[in-house]
Amino acid sequence: MTSTAAVKTENFNYGVVRQFAVMTVVWGVVGMLVGVVLAAQLMWPQLNFDIPWLTYGRLRPLHTNAVIFAFGGSALFAASYYVVQRTCQARLFCAPLAAFTFWGWQLVIVAAAVTLPLGITTSKEYAELEWPIDILITLVWVAYAVVFFGTIVKRKVKHIYVANWFFGSYILTIAILHIVNNIEMPVSLWKSYSAYAGVQDAMVQWWYGHNAVGFFLTTSFLGMMYYFVPKQAERPIYSYRLSIVHFWALAFTYMWAGPHHLLYTSLPDWTQSLGMVFSLILLAPSWGGMINGIMTLSGAWYKLRTDPILKFMVVSLSFYGMSTFEGSMMSIRTVNALSHYTDWTIGHVHSGALGWVAMITFGMLYYLIPRLWGREKMYSVKLIELHFWIATVGVVLYIAAMWIAGVMQGLMWRATEVDGSLTYSFVESVKSTAPFYFIRLLGGLLYLFGMLLMAYNVFRTVIGQTAVNPVVPDAAASTPQLSSLAKA
Ligand code: HEM
Ligand code: HEM
Repeated sequence: MTSTAAVKTENFNYGVVRQFAVMTVVWGVVGMLVGVVLAAQLMWPQLNFDIPWLTYGRLRPLHTNAVIFAFGGSALFAASYYVVQRTCQARLFCAPLAAFTFWGWQLVIVAAAVTLPLGITTSKEYAELEWPIDILITLVWVAYAVVFFGTIVKRKVKHIYVANWFFGSYILTIAILHIVNNIEMPVSLWKSYSAYAGVQDAMVQWWYGHNAVGFFLTTSFLGMMYYFVPKQAERPIYSYRLSIVHFWALAFTYMWAGPHHLLYTSLPDWTQSLGMVFSLILLAPSWGGMINGIMTLSGAWYKLRTDPILKFMVVSLSFYGMSTFEGSMMSIRTVNALSHYTDWTIGHVHSGALGWVAMITFGMLYYLIPRLWGREKMYSVKLIELHFWIATVGVVLYIAAMWIAGVMQGLMWRATEVDGSLTYSFVESVKSTAPFYFIRLLGGLLYLFGMLLMAYNVFRTVIGQTAVNPVVPDAAASTPQLSSLAKA
């Protein structure tokens, strides 16, 4: 068994997976540090030191690009390249192209880190990067698709495991979204204008923005969940049939929900209603997926007592359920009338981002790092446990503060006197928000500290000496529902 497994491992291209895994940790620290700086600037605006590059308006897109595309993107490259090889029992297609995706993606990130603080931006949220960088992203993404689908084509296992469906749809959708939303006319090397104008521009932008959330921050991470949760729990996925229904229902429904970002705007009324209805429908597949993930632990709940990696995964699924429930509610026009423009939205974003996206990523990395470097386990399981608790307290402080602040702001802004005049001035609402910004800052600091603990733990694991055979046979391998995952 040992020698066969060792031979099998050599057949996989782990080099590029290792590179992306390490950069996930590096960009996680950088992106969250910028998030903490932003949270501090909202408390003390003078923290920009009157330096244009450090102003809030320039650092904010730097934060979102760093956490979504650098941290989240690197995690997804690592996960999809690992999972597709293991479940297809095939080496990654075209190694030089895979290497190009790594170096190309890092170049995109560095270009973003330079241009955004310089104030070079298209001003479209989550699509701020200017046209030369957009072209580089397109090239990297096409290469990514070729590597991923090329590996699927050369697979040695007939069945395509469901995680690959999620990864595949995210790769295709992001390509379409990126190209359509970034059709623009360059006027100089670092300035372009969108091909769309007015309400069409808004519609295309939020079709892009919402599906960036739907496919970059959700569908893809569900692919991660469908592989790593059964692996860590050593149980087959609760219902394979449900995972297929989940996939098609989610992919179909997400596409229509974008207008919930543009309620009460000049967008035609029927499109707003359509967005709202589809957002409510979206709750069903979202919860189907969450239940499928959580129920995978049936018969293995006792493991939660001792396994902090599993804790990360289960808590992330709970946050996935919470943030999707919240999102569906916020899509209802009357609820959105209160929540829009307030910090409630920021709370929702981070319950999805910190609770779901980052936590499932941590779980994946703690599973993956020892296997990629041939170590028996992570350097310190105690540090994983500590990271888990610090991150959980951090995210709860962050989102609870934003919920209270958001509802308070919404209520203060709409309060009127009998004569119709406003009860509160805007500045009064800002003053009332300050204590909650402080609590959010504390939550963010805790979360960042947890991330630093992880970086240390990963570093010690990688430089550690206890090399063992990385392919550990697992109990899940004997269960029928995991037919393809079992061989992985
Ligand atoms: C230590 C962790 C983090 C802290 C302290 C933090 C802090 C912040 C702050 C202060 C803002 C600006 C809010 C505003 O303008 O009112 C923000 C925005 C944002 N952050 Fe984070 N963040 C963190 C981690 C993350 C992660 C891991 C992600 C994604 C994976 C993320 C995604 C976003 C997004 C998408 C926005 C824009 C939200 C919107 O426009 O509605 N953040 N963050
Ligand atoms: C059923 C699923 C979901 C629905 C229906 C939904 C719905 C919504 C709604 C209604 C808003 C507020 C729009 C506004 O008033 O401007 C919003 C904002 C947002 N949501 Fe969700 N959400 C869902 C899940 C998620 C998840 C899982 C994440 C993160 C991983 C996420 C990330 C975001 C972000 C980043 C924004 C802020 C966009 C911006 O204005 O910059 N959402 N969502």
